[in-house]
Amino acid sequence: MSAPTDGRDGAVERALEGVAEMYTGNLQEHGLASKSVGWKDEGSQLLRFDKLSELVTPQSAADGFTVNDLGCGYGAMFRYLDGRFGAGLTGYWGCDISDEMLRAARGFADDPRVELVNSPRLLKRADYSFVSGTFNVKMGAEDDAWRGYVTDMLLHLRDMSAKGFSFNLLSTYVDWKAENLYYADPLWFFDFCKRNVSRHVSLLHDYPLYEWTLLVRTEG
Ligand SMILES: C[S@@+](CC[C@H](N)C(=O)[O-])C[C@H]1O[C@@H](n2cnc3c(N)ncnc32)[C@H](O)[C@@H]1O
Repeated sequence: MSAPTDGRDGAVERALEGVAEMYTGNLQEHGLASKSVGWKDEGSQLLRFDKLSELVTPQSAADGFTVNDLGCGYGAMFRYLDGRFGAGLTGYWGCDISDEMLRAARGFADDPRVELVNSPRLLKRADYSFVSGTFNVKMGAEDDAWRGYVTDMLLHLRDMSAKGFSFNLLSTYVDWKAENLYYADPLWFFDFCKRNVSRHVSLLHDYPLYEWTLLVRTEG
């Protein structure tokens, strides 16, 4: 795996190695289930996909659109998008850093539109890019280093998304925190995206999970 060079004494690279191992272990323990990718249940996994895919316009759905899924896990979002948009989804390019997850995805999302690759970054430019849960586990990295990593990735997502991208992060509006997880201030990230990525940004923090979603439109 070639991890992003983080310029932060390798803390992020080390964390990503731990992240890949953790999800591989989860998959061995829980199999093809939302728990393997860190979610409480399938309902919350699907709710996240609902929020992320609000980005897709009716025009794109009618014309056909391609998707990047950064941190695709076992490919659950492919099945969701296929169910929701059918033939409107013309290409789904998933990347993950866990070989086991990708192996599972090859079976779960077995479709000619699907391409899967082991990579910590996107390899192709798609119409839309989605990121669900991928930035949540920071292992032992410091918050500042992790925020630097996430913001680098947001600029990368901007470059790799013709029409826009959306991502979720755990919220700082919580009353309990786990040490190995990253909790992000939605106002800081809204401001970052508005100033550095696009004028067209929506923050969703009105759904019953301890996290938020940002929709960033890069066209028009
Ligand atoms: C919380 S799971 C979510 C999986 C999927 N998005 C879903 O919601 O079903 C996060 C996934 O992202 C992967 N991951 C973490 N950092 C990554 C990176 N920089 N590039 C690619 N995959 C990454 C992990 O291996 C894991 O499979």
